[in-house]
Amino acid sequence: MIGSLFFSSFAIQGQTILPTPFKVEKTAGSFRIGNKLTIACASQQQEESNYLIQRLQNNVRIEKANERKADIHLQVAALPNNLGDEVYQLLVSGKQIKVTANTSTGLFYGIQSLLQLLPKEIQAGKAITLAGYRIPGIKVTDSPKYAWRSFMLDSGRQYQRPEFIKRYLDHMAMLKMNVFHWHLTEGQGWRVEIKKYPKLTVIGSKVAEGKEQQGFYTQEEIKDIVAYARKLHITVVPEIDVPGHSEAALTAYPELSCFGEAPKTVMGFSDVLYCGGREETYTFLKNVLDEVCELFPSPYIHLGGDEAPKGKWNKCPDCQGKIEEEGLKNSHELQMYFSSRLANYMKTKNKKVIFWGDVIYQDDFKLPDNVIVHWWNWRGHKDLALKNAIRNGHQVIANTNYYSYLNFPVSPWSNYFADRTFDMRTVYENNPSDIKEPDSLVLGMGCALWTDWYVYEHMVDRRVFPRIFVLAEQMWSRGERMPFDVFYRVVKEKYPVLREKGIDIGPGMKDEIEADFSWE
Ligand code: ACM
Ligand code: ZN
Repeated sequence: MIGSLFFSSFAIQGQTILPTPFKVEKTAGSFRIGNKLTIACASQQQEESNYLIQRLQNNVRIEKANERKADIHLQVAALPNNLGDEVYQLLVSGKQIKVTANTSTGLFYGIQSLLQLLPKEIQAGKAITLAGYRIPGIKVTDSPKYAWRSFMLDSGRQYQRPEFIKRYLDHMAMLKMNVFHWHLTEGQGWRVEIKKYPKLTVIGSKVAEGKEQQGFYTQEEIKDIVAYARKLHITVVPEIDVPGHSEAALTAYPELSCFGEAPKTVMGFSDVLYCGGREETYTFLKNVLDEVCELFPSPYIHLGGDEAPKGKWNKCPDCQGKIEEEGLKNSHELQMYFSSRLANYMKTKNKKVIFWGDVIYQDDFKLPDNVIVHWWNWRGHKDLALKNAIRNGHQVIANTNYYSYLNFPVSPWSNYFADRTFDMRTVYENNPSDIKEPDSLVLGMGCALWTDWYVYEHMVDRRVFPRIFVLAEQMWSRGERMPFDVFYRVVKEKYPVLREKGIDIGPGMKDEIEADFSWE
């Protein structure tokens, strides 16, 4: 509550820090920015310092200085209270602005908070002068609730341009989110260039005929995006969804499906899966993953595993042969065998593997210990995946379809009927993924923007904003929660900044939807 009371008197143009910091104290005086700004940091923090300089370069002359004289001092030094790797302290006094952190990542978050104290135009990168601006005295001590704070974008069903992806990485940095979960393959499109299997993109990126559904990322584009994210302290975790949601790949290489058949449709998921019985599938996927792991240095890789109906596997002689050969009970266990083989292969590359919760609804098959469970299907299975994962000692990411799927609009649209809508208050007060006292195996929280039913690029912002502020708050903020109405007011204080950044803010509540509003 200290934070919100303080902010309501301070925020004139959105100079509130969100997600809410752990501790905020107003201090005496204010720091007046002069005609130039000097910055000091150790050589190891040059990258974070350069980030800040780049964010302010159109607003004030910036020079480097020694630490005692510098206007802004960025330093990595052990903080007295042990609040983890990402803890930072931001101190604004009449003399200096000081950001202290245990790691360069903490420093980066301190810089994000500092930026949020500046005029909205500056936060948005506009070229107005900063000279003469006063930052009120403040002491912030902050660190996140969770180590994993992800945003997922579905680039499989709809392709988005690299510039758009980078724009969202910037939004994530502002929200102190640290994992970009990139859903790169779907029935409707395979989006990552794989040199060994060119048909994946030559054919697989063009299987859907709708607007903005054709396209893929070259390996150079991916490297550029990964490097861009790294500077924002964001890990890019690619998702190659197998054995289902793979109609695009199987249209390109039908010989990898049971019976060698190409899927009849790529719209919606089908039972045309990679054949789990033939060795060719495993060789192909290993080769694909070799290239994917080269592109994405992340210690995690997501291998999907959701919604894989076993109709074909139940009939396929190769799948049934494998079940017999391996002493498995049925096609479900064949998926466990399939998933385990891939997870074990990833272990040889020191990677942890994330699977959607479907792999653990029946938990009598022990999965490898490098498997993390991505809990999503609250609508279908409540907290089954969460419970089974914890019982079996697997880490979990909480990302339930009630209420962290931001493609579910605030009011009905297209095939999202009333039961697949939610507003700000609902996610703030009733999100099952927002666990009060999580088990230590809960690695963190995710949110997702799926692009089914043709969510084009220009429609993404109004679904994501403002509700993502709630999810960011639940991922990051470890202090006592303010009542919803207060929180919503604080979020609204941010709107001028968001508008300045060109974000197309959608409605937060049903009763705010204007008569002429369109989700399209
Ligand atoms: C999912 O929503 N199918 C993970
Ligand atoms: Zn088969």
